[in-house]
Amino acid sequence: MKQFLSASDPEDPRALVKKALVLKANPFQSSAGKNRTLGLVFFNPSLRTRMSTQKAAFNLGMNVMVMNVDKDGWKIEFNDGTVMNGDTQEHIKDAVSVMSQYVDILGVRTFPSLQNKEDDYSEKVISQFTRYSTVPVVSLESATRHPLQSLADLITIEELGIKRPKVVLSWAPHPKILPQAVPNSFLEWIKITDADITLACPQGYELADEFTNGVKIEHDQYHAFEGADIIYAKNWSSYVHYGQKPEVKSDWTITAEKMALTNKGKFMHCLPIRRNVVATDEVVDNSIIYRQAKNREYAAQAVLQEILENL
Ligand code: CP
Repeated sequence: MKQFLSASDPEDPRALVKKALVLKANPFQSSAGKNRTLGLVFFNPSLRTRMSTQKAAFNLGMNVMVMNVDKDGWKIEFNDGTVMNGDTQEHIKDAVSVMSQYVDILGVRTFPSLQNKEDDYSEKVISQFTRYSTVPVVSLESATRHPLQSLADLITIEELGIKRPKVVLSWAPHPKILPQAVPNSFLEWIKITDADITLACPQGYELADEFTNGVKIEHDQYHAFEGADIIYAKNWSSYVHYGQKPEVKSDWTITAEKMALTNKGKFMHCLPIRRNVVATDEVVDNSIIYRQAKNREYAAQAVLQEILENL
């Protein structure tokens, strides 16, 4: 594997899930990272991605450098040909060319603007990392995808051992305007499994066709939940009315009453979660979210190990 930006990058994504489970059983079996350095560059906040990816690298014997580029770095210019006499201080071309000389793998987190669909869906920022980096690039969540999260989600679902699980990806409320990266990515990855997948969302919150092709879309959350084995909750802003929050009149918060419609369904969320907004305390406290978060470590370790073995 030369990069990890989407489900298309691993040669066999299902084998990567199996590899992560083997690593979970014995995390210290490889020293493929000895004398290698991982760089983690964050344009946006993170708890799980930052800590789990560092832990994964330590399990492999790697050194890790973390850069909060939004706070600690020079202000980056992303456009080519700009006369840089304004407030940007360093061009992305120079920043990435330099950073990639210090590391063997470069991870980057960059959220979408949610203002310019074309820039976001062409991955304006992370594509410049792959363009200018001399080492493999790993997405720590980009404008349209969160592949390390999705891989951890598949590992968690695989551990449940349910044959052809009915999985519902459900929109849920949130006070802020959030990216579509997690749900896009979840759909992209769950499609490679044998799961029966339904997207439940209010009108106006459908995702881009490239992710929903072949996915059932349901606008009645109660109906969608009937018989489900897994409820994966997430908020996202509108793709059609890009980056907006069309009004939703019904209550989409996930409650114990709604979970009772499922087939003793497990509740999943990538975290962080707004309790009693996205889902009630009762739902969150009876969920598998901590196992999901733990599996971030082995998702990252499987990806890093596969890249290291191909350096
Ligand atoms: N789920 C996830 O990516 O968490 P962080 O934003 O805290 O890294």
